[in-house]
Amino acid sequence: NIERDYTARLLAWFDRHGRHDLPWQHPRTPYRVWLSEIMLQQTQVAVVIPYFQRFVDALPDLSSLANAAQDEVLALWSGLGYYARARNLHAAAKRCVELHDGDLPRDLEALVALPGIGRSTAGAILSQAWGDAAPILDGNVKRVLSRLFGIEGWPGTPAVEKRLWGIAASLLPDARLADYTQAQMDFGATLCTRADPACAICPLQDGCTALREGRVAELPSPKPG
Ligand code: ADE
Ligand code: SF4
Repeated sequence: NIERDYTARLLAWFDRHGRHDLPWQHPRTPYRVWLSEIMLQQTQVAVVIPYFQRFVDALPDLSSLANAAQDEVLALWSGLGYYARARNLHAAAKRCVELHDGDLPRDLEALVALPGIGRSTAGAILSQAWGDAAPILDGNVKRVLSRLFGIEGWPGTPAVEKRLWGIAASLLPDARLADYTQAQMDFGATLCTRADPACAICPLQDGCTALREGRVAELPSPKPG
């Protein structure tokens, strides 16, 4: 059944077709994972890479970020846009020094209490930095799960979002959590895309409700109104 096979197939796909040489994967420290996830919230991978390199060259760890001047942080961010992300990042680093011994907390509630970190970003940090069993639910994952399980309703609706979080949590594998998170992002970004999903070569096609029912183009349901 799909729940049982899903993670194994996704990870096998990731081994062959996923992204394995992103700069924040080598080394994959909590600080670097966090920084990359904040940059990737509104910016594509290819754009983020040189900014990420420049940022970690100047500020290689959480304490150097916490101690940096606001101007330096904003200058390193300049060109990426959405500058609230940089201000939140800086504030969160200072908060980690005050509250968490200068480290990012390995705890969902403590992470979402930091500026700029929502539930999905917290899940992406926990899974990639420590290999913890934490789900993610970004736009890509919402789309893939809506199609696979034939979930009706706009994923921005609280009830639909809640259902998708439940599915995301139920699918977590018991190993390779960092790879699993990256696999979901890569799968949504390159295979099960919004406008042109490659169903003909999809490793999940025989378990996909949307494909079976001819509703791939209709799911996820658009925002009403
Ligand atoms: N978007 C958010 N996090 C990402 C990641 N780790 N890889 C690709 N896209 C992402
Ligand atoms: Fe997405 Fe198509 Fe694969 Fe279903 S079969 S998961 S719609 S790419």
